[in-house]
Amino acid sequence: EIRRPLIAGNWKMCKTGPEAVETAKQLVALVRDVTEVDVMIAPPFTALSPVYDVIRESPVALGAQNLFWEPEGAYTGEISVGMLKAAGCRYVIIGHSERRQYFGETDETVNRKIRAAIRGQLMPVLCVGESEAERVSENTFSVLDKQIRNGLKNISSGDLGTLVIAYEPIWAIGTGKTASREQAQEVHKFLRSVIEKKYGNLLAKSIRIQYGGSVKSNNIDALMQMPDVDGALVGGASLDAESFGRIVRFEM
Ligand code: G3H
Repeated sequence: EIRRPLIAGNWKMCKTGPEAVETAKQLVALVRDVTEVDVMIAPPFTALSPVYDVIRESPVALGAQNLFWEPEGAYTGEISVGMLKAAGCRYVIIGHSERRQYFGETDETVNRKIRAAIRGQLMPVLCVGESEAERVSENTFSVLDKQIRNGLKNISSGDLGTLVIAYEPIWAIGTGKTASREQAQEVHKFLRSVIEKKYGNLLAKSIRIQYGGSVKSNNIDALMQMPDVDGALVGGASLDAESFGRIVRFEM
């Protein structure tokens, strides 16, 4: 298998620095010997550095939940790629549906952020996903096609070697409603075909596509059996080390 699965925990706006350090310590003990998958956690900005101190010698990599594309300057409240890298980040989540929904993120800002991440050698995790209304009206594929094409506008295939795509149907996030593994597979296959059309077969075959939306230890194994599912972006179930540890090991 050419695609190494990536299991990532998005802690969203949860955990203070000390709380994040405690969870990270527990997680490191639980996944110390994991070699088959890549593991990443994305704590809030205020916890990045202290968490990095705990995970730096472990298989767990650090990710951020957002960035701003300018390198520095008068942008109150924002964080640059250089700052994230100095804090130990290797990945950055970009365009999560919560950012699109509550903080005015658009395909255009997503595109600028993806380009900034690539320039700065952070691995971007591009989040895409349809709402319930879009799925019901059978617009899922056209919505996703647009999110991918606009999010990756003016980026050449040679720059996309580290890109990860996270498919997160909005109706499945934090709702307990997971997409069935067949639904996930159908969309992942479609997303890979969009990449193939635009960038060719080589990139399409190597790009990792994660599923996100109510992933738990009791559904990860079934999802991972699907040929185009290359990992998971886990929210709620990643907050507890023991639960996330089971997901990383594909254990019920
Ligand atoms: O980034 C993670 C997703 O939004 C999924 O969240 O696992 O709590 O449904 P959830």
